[in-house]
Amino acid sequence: MANVTFSSPVMANDVTVYAIAGHRGTILSVAKAYKIPIPFDCCDGECGSCLVEVKHLNSPIRYGVNLTEKEKETLRQLSKITKEEIEDAEVNSMPPRYRLACQCFVRDEDIFVSFEGDQTLPAKRPAMSIAAGIFAGGIEIGTVEEFLAFAIKVEDEAAKHFEALAAEMGRCGNQEVADLFGKLAGYSRLHLEEAQTRAGDSDVTPFMPEEHIWPDLVTPEQTALWAGDPSLSRLGALKAALEGERLGFEFYHHLAETSPDPKIRRMAKEFAKEEREHVEILEHWIERDATMAEA
Ligand code: FES
Repeated sequence: MANVTFSSPVMANDVTVYAIAGHRGTILSVAKAYKIPIPFDCCDGECGSCLVEVKHLNSPIRYGVNLTEKEKETLRQLSKITKEEIEDAEVNSMPPRYRLACQCFVRDEDIFVSFEGDQTLPAKRPAMSIAAGIFAGGIEIGTVEEFLAFAIKVEDEAAKHFEALAAEMGRCGNQEVADLFGKLAGYSRLHLEEAQTRAGDSDVTPFMPEEHIWPDLVTPEQTALWAGDPSLSRLGALKAALEGERLGFEFYHHLAETSPDPKIRRMAKEFAKEEREHVEILEHWIERDATMAEA
């Protein structure tokens, strides 16, 4: 028996299919055959789009768990497998909790496969700003190191920019706006740390972009703000910050959609997702402030 049950918040109901011997293939190929919307991209264990959680139902059988180096590495990069799990899989044939659907073969056992669906990017492509259009045409990022160098530059400058604005606003006595910029600087610092951690020991300095390659000569998340304007209202600051975060989102989103390298697409998707969360936070604050101002 090989009943495979698929479950996801993007599906109305769980779906169980019977994978016939000889036609089993990978979890992804079974999913495709039954139109189950597991996201995928490279189909080669590199991009991580097809991440699934696999529960082995009523089966004491231990098959050899064929974790390829590629799958291990991608799961590691996604923080979805531990050293202990790898050892357990290799020594005790204990399957790890998460797998890549394009790499994991369906065996003669019942399994429950759950996946989140692609929540990293909005279903509808956002309208591209002119600046993002220029990134699209003018900046080519060919390697992961180059991508990380760009991300480090973008986030470092955004953090410094927001910190400078926070200090300036504090000096002018506009503490509320200063706190807001402090928070945004914190978000950028977290992003920066993430990019630095991913770069690990690789020296990405040679790939750091120069200022002149950016539209308007500033990195995307630096907003066109007006340091030192003490009259800047909280709502005005929020709107300007939103513009900057949107540009950051568009920068990563564009790469996530167009880079020929699946690893770059995956990382860009993750960064785009975080930028989108910041955009949503700012939109929420703006809506709330606008409503309060109207009341
Ligand atoms: S589709 Fe499975 S790792 Fe890319």
